[in-house]
Amino acid sequence: LPGHINLAHKLEQSLPPARRALLQIIKQAAEDHHLPIYIVGGYVRDLLLDRSGIDFDIVVEGDAIRLANFLSQEYGGRVVTHSRFGTAKWQIKEIAETLSKQLAESSILNTAEFPDALDFISARTEFYEYPTALPTVERSSIKLDLHRRDFTINTMALRLNGRHHGELYDFWGGLADLRQKRIRVLHSLSFVDDPTRMLRAARFEQRFHFRIESRTLELIKQASDLLRQVSGDRIRHEFNLIFQEDDPPAVFRRLEELNLLESIFPGLHWGKDQTKDWDNLINHLKLTHRKEKTIPAEFCWLVLFHSFNSSQMASICQRLKLPSSFCRILESSANVQSRLPELESLSIVEIVNYLDNQPETALVAGAAFNPDNPGGEIIMKYLTTWRHIHPTINGRNLEKLGIPRGPYYRTILDTLRAAWLNGEIKNKVEENMLLSTLIQRYE
Ligand code: CTP
Repeated sequence: LPGHINLAHKLEQSLPPARRALLQIIKQAAEDHHLPIYIVGGYVRDLLLDRSGIDFDIVVEGDAIRLANFLSQEYGGRVVTHSRFGTAKWQIKEIAETLSKQLAESSILNTAEFPDALDFISARTEFYEYPTALPTVERSSIKLDLHRRDFTINTMALRLNGRHHGELYDFWGGLADLRQKRIRVLHSLSFVDDPTRMLRAARFEQRFHFRIESRTLELIKQASDLLRQVSGDRIRHEFNLIFQEDDPPAVFRRLEELNLLESIFPGLHWGKDQTKDWDNLINHLKLTHRKEKTIPAEFCWLVLFHSFNSSQMASICQRLKLPSSFCRILESSANVQSRLPELESLSIVEIVNYLDNQPETALVAGAAFNPDNPGGEIIMKYLTTWRHIHPTINGRNLEKLGIPRGPYYRTILDTLRAAWLNGEIKNKVEENMLLSTLIQRYE
């Protein structure tokens, strides 16, 4: 019910001054046009959980495009609209300087605190004439707009203007579910409307340490097969979102438990092997002093596809529409993994020749996933030492020495590198001696 809880103070506290000032002029414009406006969804949920971010969209109960156009006329900045959905993006990046002067009463605002753009969305309902059709979109009340959303905890709205400023609108039981730590859909066809919501359910559940409520769990079991029909692009997008979570393995373990990975691609699983790969990867990346907060996505995919052979790699690439450059990395990685036991029996030069031709990511993964395996140690040795060993002489030096250009340039340089790698030469004097011998041989 509207009005019971007022979040105005919490909102003020959560926003940096520039965004507060921006909100102020939007509120004013909405009042001038008699349009109720709201912040909805994830932002409100996170504000109530004291995990607030700073990015929000504005939902307008009325014509959002008109409101955005008005702001652009008043303050500048371009507006990009989608009339079918009644949405408008007000781009303010280029006008940040002038906006900051216009909005600040006394001091100048920090322009870095402005968003690049702000989305204005007309409250709408969507319905499907028949499954797989594009939804029919109709302007609606905020209440119905909230009803088309995925989970109750994402259906709360914060009224921004007039005497209702700061009021929490909770039509669908979001606050109760938030307090009881429950992920619950609003109606029984939610996953049929959008099967990717099953992946979102697991992601939110693990992020907030909530539980998927029992009826919702039941609906997931009934709808899981629908994931087979979801496009690769949409699945890939959801996986990338999971990779950015604090604890991606927790989400994947849950998806495994719910049998959803197998529905996406037969043979896709998250088990002990993947968890071990993940832990090894974290240790390895720490060892090599990488600074990223999250693990780079390419490694996450490699963990996920841990047990796949080359042909499975090729089909999952097709299923998820992964870029072809990355698919080549995946195949190389499967190849490196399969040749691991062999590496021990090769000479250093043979190893270097093979690994020189593999992509960096496949090598880092090979070393990271196999820290206690001789093959993994060999790759590590290559990454840290062998690949950096090169003769001090290059083609230009040979030219200066008056040696006519020819294919033996490669032979000479390869022989020198092999000698360095094998420890047959240890300094420049020894290298020069070997070079003289080689030159004589080819003269
Ligand atoms: N939404 C939905 N169904 C989806 C995706 C999104 O109903 N498949 C709705 C959700 O209610 C959500 C809103 O659209 O609140 C915006 O989506 P998104 O930005 O993904 O949601 P957030 O909750 O802000 O996600 P996050 O916290 O991960 O940024």
